[in-house]
Amino acid sequence: EKGTYPYYMLKEIDEQPLVIRRLIEKYRNEQGELAIDEDIVQAVNEADRLYIVACGTSYHAGLVGKQLIENWAKIPVEVHIASEFSYNMPLLSEKPLFIYISQSGETADSRAVLVRTKELGHKSLTITNVPGSTLSREADYTLLLHAGPEIAVASTKAYTAQIAVLAMLASVAAKAKGIALDVDVTKELGIVANAMETLCDAKHEMEQIAREYLATTRNCFFIGRAVDYYVVLEGALKLKEISYIQAEGFAGGELKHGTIALIENGTPVIALATQEHVNLSIRGNVKEVVARGANPCIISMKGLDMEDDRFVIPAVHPMLTPLVSVVPLQLIAYYAALHRGCDVDKPRNLAKSVTVE
Ligand code: M6R
Repeated sequence: EKGTYPYYMLKEIDEQPLVIRRLIEKYRNEQGELAIDEDIVQAVNEADRLYIVACGTSYHAGLVGKQLIENWAKIPVEVHIASEFSYNMPLLSEKPLFIYISQSGETADSRAVLVRTKELGHKSLTITNVPGSTLSREADYTLLLHAGPEIAVASTKAYTAQIAVLAMLASVAAKAKGIALDVDVTKELGIVANAMETLCDAKHEMEQIAREYLATTRNCFFIGRAVDYYVVLEGALKLKEISYIQAEGFAGGELKHGTIALIENGTPVIALATQEHVNLSIRGNVKEVVARGANPCIISMKGLDMEDDRFVIPAVHPMLTPLVSVVPLQLIAYYAALHRGCDVDKPRNLAKSVTVE
């Protein structure tokens, strides 16, 4: 039940710190160390390449997962949109493992790929929020998100739970391979949960940003570089699906290759800056759009923040920033939709689970 909340989406955004803390407990052994079913870890480490297959928000979580697994467990990862994979299958490696990410576990596009890869004899792991769901039953292995029911059509807590599970999987796989990581993922996820809480307490700021930038606009651009690019794709999807504002996420360096033509006086451009190695270059991209009249809203991370930033998120481990930087984008989308009188939980033309191909 949504209790005192006006919409499930807001409740589910607020539940995110709790879900991360619950995951830390669920994926811990008696010694208090991070632990994942050994068969799953073995399947991951025996694969010569991982193929993540998903749709929508789950696909966006997969992009972040690729970064985590390649960096920590040193296994090459490809991320595919399920509906494309079905009809345009890439050349597969000798020993692939397929990872299906799906909140509902019922998405038909993803299931079609699972059926096909099973026919080909390949092993599969489903990461889902719903025990006993079709994708969970049909795959060889399952990792659960433990996020509790997600009712709002716009996915929020499932996305952060997916990334947290992928981070845990990447770190446990690395350890099993004898790779020494200089990051204590359990501890870092605890810091993430606290940072999420701080952001959930700053709703009024996000409401203000939505009011200032998005009250009447027809479109909005999101830019980011490195892992921030993946997060802005998610921020743009959230905004468009519930507020009907045309929103697009771009890699910071890519706007000038065409899309910058759309920038007019007052066009909102929301930029994420949480990555040190691209901090100056994303700010350079903001200058480019400002020179064409854009109304910039820079959301940065403590330690990398600069004078004109609109909002600064608390510092977390650089590989885990998506878990935190997505929260303001979820809230901005929520308030933009609310201010525009949209039905936040049940946007037009959309269903919670897409069970047709
Ligand atoms: O249940 P799934 O994770 O497989 O669903 C995939 C997409 O349909 C879903 O993430 C969709 O994009 C959401 N409405 C996004 O908020």
